[in-house]
Amino acid sequence: MKLKILVGTTTSTAECVAQAIQMDCADLVDDIDVQLMDGLTVEVFDESALFLICCATYGSGDVPDNAQALYASLHANPQYLGHVRYGVMSLGDQGSYPMTFAMGGRNFDEKLTDLGAQRLGEVWTHDASSDVSPEESGVAWCRSWLVEHALVQAAK
Ligand SMILES: Cc1cc2nc3c(=O)[nH]c(=O)nc-3n(C[C@H](O)[C@H](O)[C@H](O)COP(=O)(O)O)c2cc1C
Repeated sequence: MKLKILVGTTTSTAECVAQAIQMDCADLVDDIDVQLMDGLTVEVFDESALFLICCATYGSGDVPDNAQALYASLHANPQYLGHVRYGVMSLGDQGSYPMTFAMGGRNFDEKLTDLGAQRLGEVWTHDASSDVSPEESGVAWCRSWLVEHALVQAAK
């Protein structure tokens, strides 16, 4: 199985989470690809892979600049994505932005669901105003997400 992590970020926290998963989950998944969202379009979902959207939040609950093209493409060129299974990791700051906390990843989730894609599990969120390490908690969540949804064997 291939796990493709699509990263929406401005200051690289989401990218660090994705890279930590790539390193730490190598015993569970043979092929983990981390790709920044820059310049991607809806066609990225043509690939046969399990997708993980790992996306921060900017503006007023918007996706980061590097994710704007992909997010716009989902609206401009809507395609049925019934073959797509995905998870969502959404980063934000609840202390500073309580009204729009972690909307970046949730925006992708809403649109992907609209297009017929199937989300596996709940949306994971990280609050930058907390003491929680995004890498450690993100890796822990991803490991149990992979196992709980029978995407991998618990021990390989
Ligand atoms: C200008 C600016 C706007 C932000 N807007 C939001 C927001 O609306 N909602 C939210 O939950 N977090 C918001 N954040 C917090 C970021 O999403 C959070 O710090 C995240 O961890 C950054 O991830 P990144 O380093 O991958 O870009 C904002 C941060 C900045 C600097």
